[in-house]
Amino acid sequence: MLSLPFRHIKQAGFTILASTAAHLFSPLTIRSVTMRNRVWVPPMCQYSVFNRDGVPTSWHQIHLGGMAVGGAGLIIAEATAVSFDGRITVHDTGIWNDEQRDAWKTIVDFLTEHGAVAGIQLAHAGRKSSVRPDWNFAGAAGPMPESEGGWIPIAPSAIPFDETSTTPREMTVADIQRVTEDFRAATRRSIAAGFQVLEIHAAHGYLLHEFLSPLSNTRTDEYGGSLENRAKFLLDILDVVRAEAGEEIAVFVRFSATDWAEGGWTPEETSIVAGWCAARGADFFDISTGGNYPGVTIPTGPSYQVTFSDQVKHSAHVSTAAVGLITDAEIANEIIVSGQADAVLLGREHMRDPHFALRASAELGIEIDYWPAQYLRSRPRSAVTTPTTAKVAF
Ligand SMILES: Cc1cc2nc3c(=O)[nH]c(=O)nc-3n(C[C@H](O)[C@H](O)[C@H](O)COP(=O)(O)O)c2cc1C
Repeated sequence: MLSLPFRHIKQAGFTILASTAAHLFSPLTIRSVTMRNRVWVPPMCQYSVFNRDGVPTSWHQIHLGGMAVGGAGLIIAEATAVSFDGRITVHDTGIWNDEQRDAWKTIVDFLTEHGAVAGIQLAHAGRKSSVRPDWNFAGAAGPMPESEGGWIPIAPSAIPFDETSTTPREMTVADIQRVTEDFRAATRRSIAAGFQVLEIHAAHGYLLHEFLSPLSNTRTDEYGGSLENRAKFLLDILDVVRAEAGEEIAVFVRFSATDWAEGGWTPEETSIVAGWCAARGADFFDISTGGNYPGVTIPTGPSYQVTFSDQVKHSAHVSTAAVGLITDAEIANEIIVSGQADAVLLGREHMRDPHFALRASAELGIEIDYWPAQYLRSRPRSAVTTPTTAKVAF
């Protein structure tokens, strides 16, 4: 058993729990947005827009909705393209037109109604766009040719991801400005759809990560070379998103903290750029790794990326979330309690069990008041023994 920061208090014959520090079920407020706990769902592409029009479907509603019913505090919808050519595959969701906005609104309304904060990951896939969906997510499943609805990807430099990938077209400054404006329009539509958290995708080898990493950015203009130059596109986009988002909405950035490759993007650079982003209005940092360089060895294992969240959080003095092979309630709680992250994102565990948060609260013995009424009779016995009338001093 890991130690928990709770004092057990006997009151009126009942044992209740009072926290002495932040823990997995402490609410977290960022700007005007309050997450009911720190059990969050990271973006996960479903490749399920079979009409190829970027409009989310009933699959997305059920997939994300189940996790809202299941008690997650924040649900970040999958990498959602800011433009037609920003999709990884033709089956990705988009937010570049009003039909997509309206379909997202239906989903957001459901998540909100069930107590979860709805977030969206705003994305452009750069040189990793226009590939066939890979249902096993073991890497790109090969280019989608133009004859089948694909396109030539754009990127900071004309360097393909690997030998099987299409060589992208190097972006002009006009392309950079166009994508920046696409992020502006996507921000407006996301807010109109009701999203309260906007996450800029700068991880996993997609467009903004490609600009950050010297392995994929060999430009000689103001967007390449020095760290300041490689970060310029991300900061330009952040400025636009922040301006459109106003004071209430939370803006996150997802980074890959390392390329896991010699000469690549590093945790130190991530911390520096996270600090720059925070100074320009980013509120929170979602710390992942990898995805920009093929064939590297990644030492995966339980919680293997938590150390990067910890490093960025304490070097840049920012708030972070940890992600990657976190599957256990006590370990998730310990990550928060120990101060390595302010929240945890559980991806595949939420797909295995959309009600992970409900289960975790029971396992940790923490009273929550958002067990769905329809499911009350399924509540584990240990959770039921704490009367719902007990005042829990979180
Ligand atoms: C099916 C699937 C789709 C994913 N799609 C995205 C995505 O859209 N955007 C993103 O940043 N990461 C994506 N990821 C990575 C997850 O957000 C998460 O970082 C990763 O799965 C590690 O967390 P886990 O071990 O809890 O699953 C995806 C992962 C999976 C399994």
